Amino acid sequence: MSNDLMRTVEWKDGKVVMVDQSKLPGKLVFVEYDRYEQVAEAIKTLVVRGAPAIGVSGAFGMALAAQQSDANSKKDIIVDLENAKNVLQKTRPTAINLKWGLEKIMDVACKADGDANSVRDNIVREAKQMAEDDIAINKMMGKNGAVLFGKEDTVMTHCNAGALATVAYGTALGVIRAVREDGKKIKVIATETRPVQQGSRLTAFELQHDGFDVSLIPDTAVGYAMSQGLVDRVIVGADRILRTGHVYNKIGTYQVATMAKQHGVPFYVAAPLSTFDMQSDPKDVVIEQRSSQEVVKIGDVRTAPEGISVINPAFDETPPELVSSIITEAGIAKPPYEESIKNLFKSTAD
Ligand code: MRU
Repeated sequence: MSNDLMRTVEWKDGKVVMVDQSKLPGKLVFVEYDRYEQVAEAIKTLVVRGAPAIGVSGAFGMALAAQQSDANSKKDIIVDLENAKNVLQKTRPTAINLKWGLEKIMDVACKADGDANSVRDNIVREAKQMAEDDIAINKMMGKNGAVLFGKEDTVMTHCNAGALATVAYGTALGVIRAVREDGKKIKVIATETRPVQQGSRLTAFELQHDGFDVSLIPDTAVGYAMSQGLVDRVIVGADRILRTGHVYNKIGTYQVATMAKQHGVPFYVAAPLSTFDMQSDPKDVVIEQRSSQEVVKIGDVRTAPEGISVINPAFDETPPELVSSIITEAGIAKPPYEESIKNLFKSTAD
């Protein structure tokens, strides 16, 4: 999966092609879309998931919307694009990369010179560039993060922040790839990540496929693994990071971070600058609530009584005091985060 030829999402002959992640690990199936509404549905139903992959998919969705539009003028195509943006934006509220991707495309559309065709060309070019940049950024993040690792480490990861959560290579798993590319030994412990099981279905699949030494544990064994000294470090991705260093990631991340603190295990977050939300405060962040069906069943088998009430948040908030380092393509942020994160952004503007 680290091979650049194998991409989670890409633009091919005017269509969006994606790995259908809902079918993994049983089947590696590619789906092809030519309408933005199909991309919106794919994001909602987790055919494609993971913050950076959703960001690029949103951008490709906008490129499809531009192709679908029969507008002749720039003014009319902008109206169609705004409609598509609203549909795509509503699919998943927590991952900030989606908003980032959609706004970047709208910006390109608004700044394009000429008629509707020039807007179309510019959008497609930009969305394709965003996919290329995603891979380059992940590789840079990997290099930056690898220095934090020892010669021989066992690292725990939660959810899937790998090639499958990005265009290719991955964020947290990208750092793990870079550690191996540096010639260091690395073993991985992957949590199952209930209820949708991105850990067992995707991370275990991706890392095993790429020849890593990976062990799967139930989410309930995180405390056990740390108390037994089985974990040297934790690394996860993020769906949103605030200027304060609050991290929003897959439900269960907060528990893993708390356990890491309890056992003196460094807890790292790897995410591109496009995952930072420098405007919001913790109270503004909407935590996506998903269907009860994800909790009352494992696969197709019902495991809870009919009529049971369910709480199913998709993400949680990890406070900055539990986070040892935030790894980005621009460098590593350290506590106190407000200053450190600001400096990372400043360094990219220089
Ligand atoms: O609900 P998902 O599968 O989209 O959640 C994904 C995560 O929480 C990932 O850890 C996060 O998006 C980082 S991906 C590089």
